Order: sequence, then C-alpha cells, then structure tokens
Amino acid sequence: MTTFPTRKDFPEDFLFGVSTSAYQIEGHGFGAAGSTHWDTFAATPGNVVNAEDGARACDHYHRWGDDLDLIRDGNFDVYRFSTSWARVLPEGRGPVNAEGLDYYDRLVDGMLERGIKPALTLYHWEMPSPLADLGGWRNRDVAGWFTDYAEVVTKRLGDRLWSTATINEFWCVAWLSHFIGAHAPGMRDIRAAARAVHHVLLAHGTAARAMRDWGVDNIGAVFNFEYTLPETDSAADAQAATNWDAIYNRMFLGAAFHGSYPDEVLAGLAPHLPDNWQDDMATIAAPLNWCGVNYYTRKVISHAPGPWPNTRETVGDLPRTAMGWEIYPDGLRHFLTKVHRDYAKGLPIYVTENGMAAPDRLTGGTVADHDRIAYLADHLAAVQAAIAEGTPVKGYFQWSLLDNYEWAFGYDKRFGIVHVDFDSLERTPKASYHTLARALSRR
Ligand code: FCB
Repeated sequence: MTTFPTRKDFPEDFLFGVSTSAYQIEGHGFGAAGSTHWDTFAATPGNVVNAEDGARACDHYHRWGDDLDLIRDGNFDVYRFSTSWARVLPEGRGPVNAEGLDYYDRLVDGMLERGIKPALTLYHWEMPSPLADLGGWRNRDVAGWFTDYAEVVTKRLGDRLWSTATINEFWCVAWLSHFIGAHAPGMRDIRAAARAVHHVLLAHGTAARAMRDWGVDNIGAVFNFEYTLPETDSAADAQAATNWDAIYNRMFLGAAFHGSYPDEVLAGLAPHLPDNWQDDMATIAAPLNWCGVNYYTRKVISHAPGPWPNTRETVGDLPRTAMGWEIYPDGLRHFLTKVHRDYAKGLPIYVTENGMAAPDRLTGGTVADHDRIAYLADHLAAVQAAIAEGTPVKGYFQWSLLDNYEWAFGYDKRFGIVHVDFDSLERTPKASYHTLARALSRR
C-alpha cells in the first residue's frame, strides 16, 4: 500500500473535501418535500434492495449541524452537497417550499461559520414526480424547468456559495436511467435515452448561461468516468470497448466542451435524437469555470450480439470493492490528464467523487476500514501523478462523509468515512476519517 499522503504533499492551494447528495442523506420524508421519481421507483418491487427509499436516510435534515462539525473536525476545506429540487419546489415548478429553502440557507451559513466552502450541486438525481409525469428528462421543456429551479436556489444562496455545479453524472442521469434501466425512472428504450442525453445537456447549458447572466460565478459540471478496456484483442471486442468509452466517457464531455457528439455515438443514437438537435449544441457548450471528475473503477467490455451499441460488461481480474467494482487507481490519473488535455483545457479540474464501499463492521466503538484507507491512499497518489504530468488538479473530494442511501442498493453498501447505524442513526467516525483528519491537519 502507498503511504498515506498529507496536505503538505499537495500544492498550497489544493482543496480537500467530502461529497454527499440530498436524497441519499437528508430524509426526504421531512420538511414538506415533494415526491420524486426515486420515491416511486423504490416503491416498485424489484428496483431497489429491500425496496428501501430515502424517506429517513441519515436524517441529515435534522442532524446537519453535527454532520458539519464532523466535516470541520476532519479538517476538510470543502463540502460538496446538493439541493433537492422537490424539497425546494415540491411540484417541480411554481410554489416554493419556504421551509426547504430556509433549510438550505441555514446549511450554507453553517458551513461558513465552520470555515467550510459550500460547493453546490443542483441536480443529484431526484426528479420531482409532477415533472417525471410530463416525461422528465425526455421532455425538452426540462431545460426551462431546471433553469427556473436553478434561479430560485442560486438567487437565495448564490452570494455565499463557493462553487455551483449544474448536473451530477450526466451518464447516470441519462444512460443508466433510460437505457440500462437500473436507476429511476427505470426505462430501457433507446429513443428515451437519446432524448434524456440531449435534454440533460441542454438543461445544463441553458442553466449555466442563465446563472452566469445573473451573476453566479465559479460554475462547473460533474462528469463520471470508467476506464474502459476490451476483454480480448478481437476486432469485435475493440469496437465494443470503443462504443462503451464513447457513450460513457466522451459523449457528455464532448457535447459540453466541444459542442459535438462522438461519431461512435451518432452511429447509434442519431435516428433517435430530437429534430434539429444540432441547433442546441452551441447552448450546450456553455463556458464553464471548472470541470468535476467522478471516478471509481474500470470496466472490461466485450462484444454483445444484437443491436448497437453491442457492449457487454465482463468480469476483470483486479481486486474489487463491495460494489464488485475493480480497483484501478491509474484510471483516475488517466482521466484527470485526458479531461484537461482534450476537453477542459486551461480550467481547474476537481476530483468531485472518489471512494469505495466496504463491508464495514462497528466493533468496540470503531470501524477498522483499512481497505478504504488503502484505496484512498492509492487514488490520492494517482492525483499526485496527474499533477506531476502538469494537469491542474485543484481538489479532491471524497465520496462520502456518511454511509447513506446507495440508490438501487438501498442501505446495503457503505461508502462513508463515518459509520451510520441506520436504526439509532448514531454516527461513528471510521479509521479512514481519523486518517484523513490527521493527514489534512494544518497544525
Ligand atoms: C456515484 C454517485 C453517488 C454515489 C456514488 C457511489 O455515481 O454520484 O451518488 O452513488 O456513485
């Protein structure tokens, strides 16, 4: 295992943080939030482990003060959090839930009081149900709905935010949710996926431009990546891996930074994209101030017979996390450097998520999560390698502060550096938390 690095091993202005998202920790049943597509997806048999939902989650809605204390005491500089669209606008548009907006106002003030920089994400996956009824991301009007929601949030919080991201993980929002069907709304339809791809990008670009016009600064977006390699050296596997890489790693980045979709994507999606999609590409490629990279794993891909994209995920031979995800730290270095070199030239790059699920056990008041410590050390070394290559990586935000609602896996997969007992809701910092707190201490 790599020796655990400390703050001194990184540039002076490098920022360390933790990431969470609203639906995964807040307790969506509290505070008059409206229904979201995750509530109904979870209530449908077979979609989520134990049909668990985010109604209570970690009850961060009431315990946020203690949780912010944990972030401060862990010596983190940044808290990457998200606002829930349906908590702010229970119908998705129209009347504001004052209690919800007040809650985020207090949360942001609570960060500033503790010397923590607030890094907002506007959409981390919970589409309000009334908008899902209208087609959600499949409906072109979502660009306007999302921009109106961004306006409500940033006009209230914007004077105190350190950064604002539009969308978390475009691939999951569009592809995992409308083509693979593993996330809400659980669709498996190429036309639905093509429209979701294009509209989530259009919503991003429209909102980013509007926010800039009304004075929001430090605007970015968060993309997820999986290092991709073919299972064999056959031409068919090579093509499959190229298609996977194009859909996963290049489609959203290419649109957001160059205003174009990769040819390998158009080969399959062009007939299903909305009419005159080309006219939107300039809006989609809105100027940004930074680019967020979420990275967890690599994927070995082989050829699947049948229609495009002819991809099948196969099992690689590296050690795996509790998610079954292979551990491949060099993939993080690869993407940091590639994103900067080929897309976000000249912009600061942040690792906005990185971490692992482990079968953590609380014994004698401690959690000895040594595998997670090794994972973090190895990925921080990959960040250092990217910086040594001349890539302007300016921060690293660990996923996640707390064990939380891991979407289709319910409460089964623990990603936290702080253990949560989901009966008592008691928080117990794990060994990884203490390791990071020591490494990040300025004393
Ligand atoms: C990312 C998501 C985050 C969490 C981690 C494990 O894809 O952004 O909410 O689920 O994976």
